[in-house]
Amino acid sequence: MDGTFNENDLTRVIEADRANVWHHLSQHQQFITGADPKIIVEGKGMRVWDQKGIEHLDAVAGGVWTVNVGYGRETMGDAVRDAIVKMNFFGGTVGTIPGALFAEKLISKMPGMDRVYYANSGSEANEKAFKLVRQIAHKKYGGKKHKILYRDRDYHGSTIATMSAGGQDERNAQYGPFTPGFIRVPHCLEYRKHEQDGAPVENYGEWAANQIEEIILREGADTVGALCLEPVTAGGGVIEAPEGYWPRVAEICKKYDILLHIDEVVCGVGRTGTWFGYQHYGIQPDMVTMAKGVASGYAAISCLVTTNEVFDMFMDPTEDNMNYFRDISTFGGCTAGPAAAMENMRIIEDEGLLQNTIDMGHYMKDQLNALKDKHEVIGDVRGKGLFLGVELVADRTTREPAAEKMVQAVVGDCMKNAVIIGATNRSLPGRNNTLCYSPALIATKDDIDQIVTATSNALTTVFG
Ligand SMILES: Cc1ncc(COP(=O)(O)O)c(C=O)c1O
Repeated sequence: MDGTFNENDLTRVIEADRANVWHHLSQHQQFITGADPKIIVEGKGMRVWDQKGIEHLDAVAGGVWTVNVGYGRETMGDAVRDAIVKMNFFGGTVGTIPGALFAEKLISKMPGMDRVYYANSGSEANEKAFKLVRQIAHKKYGGKKHKILYRDRDYHGSTIATMSAGGQDERNAQYGPFTPGFIRVPHCLEYRKHEQDGAPVENYGEWAANQIEEIILREGADTVGALCLEPVTAGGGVIEAPEGYWPRVAEICKKYDILLHIDEVVCGVGRTGTWFGYQHYGIQPDMVTMAKGVASGYAAISCLVTTNEVFDMFMDPTEDNMNYFRDISTFGGCTAGPAAAMENMRIIEDEGLLQNTIDMGHYMKDQLNALKDKHEVIGDVRGKGLFLGVELVADRTTREPAAEKMVQAVVGDCMKNAVIIGATNRSLPGRNNTLCYSPALIATKDDIDQIVTATSNALTTVFG
């Protein structure tokens, strides 16, 4: 294709996209036989415009809970531009000004944590954490304490090793064989405890955590190096662990000398109303990974943050010239990431966005709960801050999940009415029935009213 590009005529862009782009998570047949691929042309605040100039209200922060401070921030652009014009990149064996200053700032928000390791995607940060666990096993435990526990319904990334720690069987299907040494523990979704053998009516949180201990004992505590958990499960159905879960998890990890790795790729940097999701629960992780909201998608950055206890395991003086973390991420040396992350944090602080997330999160949860009176199909409303899920059921008594096709139709109807919401999608066999919401942390009551109204109208259209 040739010819000059006319900003007002995106036909050429659509055809280039249709001919040459392989979209994520997409069956492309639809673009050959039917609709044009959607091109997002511009964004401002909570809103984006497509190739037809149609304004959409984005209730999922860039589709995948990322753009925490909203679109079109000039100061984010300035921060990235200033950083890359002065010094865009150097490999991570050396330091950079944005890298050092953002690490200091980040650590100031994470009491008890000390060291920041830079990479550029959530999957990659998690891979780094897994590699640390494996190397610690070799350094301290003759290779034995190498197993990594992960939880049913959690997700940690798209690479083979992170999928090996993936609790979403539909997402994993056809991509095996997976990496050995990853062991699954049960989910802690109270709404579905009736599907778990032996789950009690009371104290479910503690019971769910105790299941982890049983698995550790079954595997042998001397073989288990780490437990990797999302603070609030995202794509697996927006699951907040019930009361009693986290203190017991922390106790178990301590008892068996198991590193607690919290995957904050979604919750990190404000999404739930605290800087990090784990900070709601009074626990102290050994490793924390983060990505999406760290720079709100203005630059690619992810971080693995550890305690000094973990870091110091690689500090012992020895004759062994292999005795350090022999890992690199080329683009972990880009200054755009930490420069954007620094400005992102400034915006959240100066605009009081953590408080707004708490206030608007309560408001939105109340509004979604209120829809239960009108829509029998709503089984459960859950989540924390501006990170909410609505589980749809065919029958409130049996809690039989609504069909995925119907759930997707609700998302489709909202989109037709220019409101972008999400849903668990081709992740959990027979359980892709949760609508997902993660509006930018700048959301107002008006924005939320619009999102909730669109959802209610869509539920009426699809389910009557
Ligand atoms: C909890 C969690 N961890 C890790 C990842 C992987 O992040 P990335 O897509 O940046 O590799 C995701 C992505 O959705 C996620 O939700």
